Amino acid sequence: RGGPLVLGIETSCDETGVGIVHGHTLLADAVASSVDEHARYGGVVPEVASRAHLEAMIPTIRRALKEAGVSASDLDGIAVTAGPGLAGALLVGVSAAKAYAYALGKPLYGVNHLASHICVDQLEHGALPEPTMALLVSGGHSSLLLAPDITSDVRPLGSTIDDAAGEAFDKIARVLQLGFPGGPVIDRYAREGDPDAISFPRGLTGPRDPVYDFSFSGLKTAVARWIEAKRAAGEDVPVADVSASFQEAVVDVLTRKAVRACKDSGVEHLMIGGGVAANSRLRAMAERRCEDAGITLRVPRPKLCTDNGAMVAALGAEMVARNRPASDWDLPADSSLPV
Ligand code: KG4
Ligand code: ZN
Repeated sequence: RGGPLVLGIETSCDETGVGIVHGHTLLADAVASSVDEHARYGGVVPEVASRAHLEAMIPTIRRALKEAGVSASDLDGIAVTAGPGLAGALLVGVSAAKAYAYALGKPLYGVNHLASHICVDQLEHGALPEPTMALLVSGGHSSLLLAPDITSDVRPLGSTIDDAAGEAFDKIARVLQLGFPGGPVIDRYAREGDPDAISFPRGLTGPRDPVYDFSFSGLKTAVARWIEAKRAAGEDVPVADVSASFQEAVVDVLTRKAVRACKDSGVEHLMIGGGVAANSRLRAMAERRCEDAGITLRVPRPKLCTDNGAMVAALGAEMVARNRPASDWDLPADSSLPV
């Protein structure tokens, strides 16, 4: 048989995700999102997310089991995101996972959300090479992580000191009145624009700056000021050029630092995950820079990059396959769980 059969539950932010995998094979990936309920607030509202998880949890588990065509009694384990994430949202997933695992007599595996974002690539490209360098970029995190062992040893090298990359996309989209979430819209506008039209700052790239950390708040302010100045002068804001130039600044820094981290650590494989990994310019620039540096690049398809249950199941299956210990029944939901 093709590896452990594991169901994974993800509720760290606004997606209720339930996935089922058989080793590296994806059998089901059911996601219920409350993103529309948050849209009018311009960001995720924790209490709204928790309530939406509660309503979606059981139907989403049923949908995944049906989609996979497996019986819950055949599962080898149940994995769940234990953190980091929104406390109330995590609690819904962890409670559901405990209840199912206990009732079915299956082992429970609490996993780290960031490690799952990395491990999901096994469902796309097969066994993850170790060590792998990972660039995780989403609305909640922007991190560089070195993974010598995805189940037990993932080391944070750097992260954002202010906004996450996706958050910067969302904020600039708000200033441009393009709606939420902003990443996909900016990506689309940028295709019609000139990335060199406006020179925006590249945060933390000076000689004395931390090498692997990111900062996007200065960029955000610079873009917002530039737009305000145009409006104050009564001129039209060139949305495509602003989008392309802003996106270029973000993607330039992300890819530059990721490749640098690989070179410094002697790591030959880079994976990019998180919602921002769907960005077309990020994919293109990462491909070019990795090729130049002799690094193999792995980017899962967009549906696997955003939060989902399959990524949790993928890491759970890896833990079962490597005989890692199951979690205790008092597994806490930990909003700031370190990798
Ligand atoms: O991983 P994700 O679905 O949720 C978390 O934040 O954990 O990531 C969502 C983020 C949002 O900020 C969204 O604007 C961004 O990913 N995003 C993109 C693109 N698609 C989604 N950012 C840039 N370009 C995209 N094509
Ligand atoms: Zn995430």
